Amino acid sequence: MAFPPSFLDDLTARNPIEDVVGQYVALTRRGSNLFGLCPFHAEKTPSFSVAPDKGIYYCFGCHKGGGPINFIMEIENLDYPDAVRFLAKRAGMEVPEDEAYRSTYRKQERLRALCKEAARFFRAQLFSPAGKEAQRYLVGRGISSQTVSRFGLGFSPDTWSSLLDTMAKSGYTKEELYDAGLVLKNQKGGYYDRFRNRLMFPIIDTRGNVIGFGGRVLDDSKPKYLNSPETIIFNKRKNLFALNVAKKTKEELLILTEGYMDAISLHQYGFDCAVASLGTALTQEHAQLLAKYTNQVVLTYDADEAGQNATRRAIPMLERAGLQVKILRMQGAKDPDEFLKKYGADRFRALLQRSENQAEYRLQSLQRKFDLNDDAQRVTFLKEAAELICTFPAAVERDIYGRRAAEAAGVSPDTMRQEISSAYRRRIARAKKRQTQADLDLNAQQQPKEKGLHYDNLKSAMAEEQLLAQILKDPVLLPEVKLHPEQFSSPLLGRVFSLLLQCQRDGRPVSLTALEGDLTPEEMNHLSSIARRRDTLVSEQAIADCVNVIRGEYARTVGTGPEALRAIQQQLQNKKGYGG
Ligand code: GTP
Ligand code: MN
Repeated sequence: MAFPPSFLDDLTARNPIEDVVGQYVALTRRGSNLFGLCPFHAEKTPSFSVAPDKGIYYCFGCHKGGGPINFIMEIENLDYPDAVRFLAKRAGMEVPEDEAYRSTYRKQERLRALCKEAARFFRAQLFSPAGKEAQRYLVGRGISSQTVSRFGLGFSPDTWSSLLDTMAKSGYTKEELYDAGLVLKNQKGGYYDRFRNRLMFPIIDTRGNVIGFGGRVLDDSKPKYLNSPETIIFNKRKNLFALNVAKKTKEELLILTEGYMDAISLHQYGFDCAVASLGTALTQEHAQLLAKYTNQVVLTYDADEAGQNATRRAIPMLERAGLQVKILRMQGAKDPDEFLKKYGADRFRALLQRSENQAEYRLQSLQRKFDLNDDAQRVTFLKEAAELICTFPAAVERDIYGRRAAEAAGVSPDTMRQEISSAYRRRIARAKKRQTQADLDLNAQQQPKEKGLHYDNLKSAMAEEQLLAQILKDPVLLPEVKLHPEQFSSPLLGRVFSLLLQCQRDGRPVSLTALEGDLTPEEMNHLSSIARRRDTLVSEQAIADCVNVIRGEYARTVGTGPEALRAIQQQLQNKKGYGG
């Protein structure tokens, strides 16, 4: 799929980056650029910048960057064509669609409408005579009618084709219901309802579309839950249950639970910031999604082994997304739903307020691994605790948790303090050694953050980066650059150079935004970071210097004889990214 370049130019011109970003981020002007708090990672001081003259944004903290299309892809969780459509709609433009895309898009729209109607059907069933037992079940679990309507809960009747038949009357085909994950095929090719005799939880994305369902049995039969399969509108890795409601919370945190019922209970007890994963492990995409709405996540996974393992796996993912993580540990109940029923909202609120931070959680987890009545184990615990505590950045934390560990193991706080400071010295020594290594290995520092973009010839690549930075800053200089894209050592940078030349030949603006459709988001991030360098000074001399380095390195690696040149050109043509 390719949108015509002229349309894309028009699209970017009519969606100025500062306006598009400005709808999501409060921006303040500083010189010719605008700054604000990055919407893609949690931060307190602005490192997110917008350069209206270049038509791009770039975050100095998380290194995300690109043009308006990339921005919309990131912030609205859309793929490239949908981001284009989004911006076209915003600017009141007609999208020149090709048939394949038009039909996928139509299909998605159709399935979204279908799921919405199915949710209405299930809801109506809950309040019909067929839904009596489900109603009783909800009452038995203390779920109010207000909660039922807030989450659009419903009931799938105990028949094989109620949904099929009803939806057929509205004009939906069996195949469409199958594609939406709502019916199954039997061996003879017949279709039947997937969800039968289950309490239905619609899964709604942050834009309010019903995209799938979870269904719970009303008794102890198995499986307890059925979930919609992945479909063209339902991706479990990218969606969370109840986030459509929780995203509007006034709380400064989001509570992450394992179960639908936990999230629902929390909302009913006044914690409107609860969300649940969709019966799958937390993904990095989930973490990033959460980071769009909050700076802090409280994990309230079940107290069992599985829940604790899930907690341990979730922590680094959430931290990588810039989130502050706290762990809420419940005593006397296995999950939040049970806790709330037993002890009420106030006690849960109290737990939430002193939910363990990382330090406490990690120390306690460590402690649990040892039998502290055993002398040998006590020694190992103290050593490992010292290793852990010496990594805590604040002195007061090291002191508090040092005392706590000392107390647990029955040694004096002084002994523990000594252990911690020698662990600290060992750590500094290790860090120093690593730093020396890193200093020597300047190469590693200058490589792109994205592994796939590794530079083979660093010297040439640095000159290529500088050259592109200057061209992007001042495109009039492009005709002065007497180089062939093939002379670039980096296939990516060479491709960008050739695309910029193409823009120039076609009379389109020479800018990064013109390349959005041709580069992957990772490549675009990297290029944006090059374009956003503050230290780029444009001059003819600087350009000539870069050109010389690139030519020199090219000549050095390939030789200059006509034979060698032909061989290399042949080789490059076969390389990904170079046309003919
Ligand atoms: P209740 O038992 O009604 O309180 O439900 P819960 O929401 O607390 O569920 P539980 O803690 O047992 O499980 C957590 C989550 O795992 C559920 O919300 C489901 O998303 C998922 N899950 C649980 N059981 C099953 C199952 O049998 N099949 C599938 N596919 N998912 C399940
Ligand atoms: Mn439960």
